[in-house]
Amino acid sequence: DKAGFKHFMAKEIAEQPTVLQGALSHYIGADGVVLPEPGLAFDQIERMTLVACGTAFYACMVAKYWFEQIARLPIEIDVASEFRYREPPVTKGTVALFVSQSGETADTLAALRYMHEKADKIVSVVNVPESSIARESDLALPILAGTEIGVASTKAFTCQLTTLAMLVLKAAQDRGQMSPQDVQTKLAALRGLPGVMNIALGIEARTQAIAQELSEARDILFLGRGQMYPLAHEGALKLKEISYIHAEAYASGELKHGPIALVDPNVPVIVMAPRDALFDKTVSNMQEVMARGGKVLLISDQKGVNEAGDGVWQSIVMPEVDDFLAPILYAIPAQLLAYHTAIAKGTDVDQPRNLAKSVTVE
Ligand code: F6R
Repeated sequence: DKAGFKHFMAKEIAEQPTVLQGALSHYIGADGVVLPEPGLAFDQIERMTLVACGTAFYACMVAKYWFEQIARLPIEIDVASEFRYREPPVTKGTVALFVSQSGETADTLAALRYMHEKADKIVSVVNVPESSIARESDLALPILAGTEIGVASTKAFTCQLTTLAMLVLKAAQDRGQMSPQDVQTKLAALRGLPGVMNIALGIEARTQAIAQELSEARDILFLGRGQMYPLAHEGALKLKEISYIHAEAYASGELKHGPIALVDPNVPVIVMAPRDALFDKTVSNMQEVMARGGKVLLISDQKGVNEAGDGVWQSIVMPEVDDFLAPILYAIPAQLLAYHTAIAKGTDVDQPRNLAKSVTVE
């Protein structure tokens, strides 16, 4: 049931504030983040390996930035289809964490089985609690996104990130990297996220107008730095999947090492950059693009657009949010741009060609 929406994808994008709310109240108790039994004591962990495919992998990529910066926990990430074939050595004190919406992705399940007996503990972040990946984990953390029908993952991604964010705060507290008061402050920011996300959904008309023009491009580049770099990947993946436009993501600073050769007036460059500590660096990469005739879509908050919006082709103003949570919020423009570009091209948004919702073959 599409509940009055034209597509499941539109319904699932709109549902995000509500499902996020559910995930937050499931895990946040009076004294902080509460995990299901048998729990996880992060002070006894040396490192963590995060493995997934596609959009779930980009959630892992964001989590790497978070765990390392906020909880000072060394993280290794890999796509599941590569992970076990490189026969990674696993040392004592390693926890393996698998992220999967379906819980049935063949490569992710095989990577999990590779880590049985090798890792100290197997943790999974899943949407389907009765799935194989959940059943074969020592600790399964549901993301509570509800059934996701659109082939392009939307609400599962933001619920994965939200669940991982809560895990990061638990890790920071267990490892003595954050005081209980600071944890409470971040949890309050997380609790405010559904409301901020509701405001962010107000950019829809703006993304729709921009998407009309994006739909005429043959190639589109996405740029991001730090924790926004994975969001650039997510934006590019979403766009490829449903609009069939060739899109690539680069770390902003990597542009000048090759990809800047692609820049010309016909290749829109989408820059995802809240006004955070890395903003000025990203802006200087953006200006390099503009100096070469590239047309830039800047996605930032009001401060960022005021400071750096001169001369850009288009901008989208996002509500302000705690820096830590920007990757969750900026999933909204990534999803809406892909959705409306696909609509403008007339593709089948919920059932894109060549793709299946659950990839159960390797
Ligand atoms: C992208 C998408 C895929 C999945 C990937 C992993 O929109 O849906 O990239 O994220 O196939 O699937 P799960 O999370 O079910 O393991």
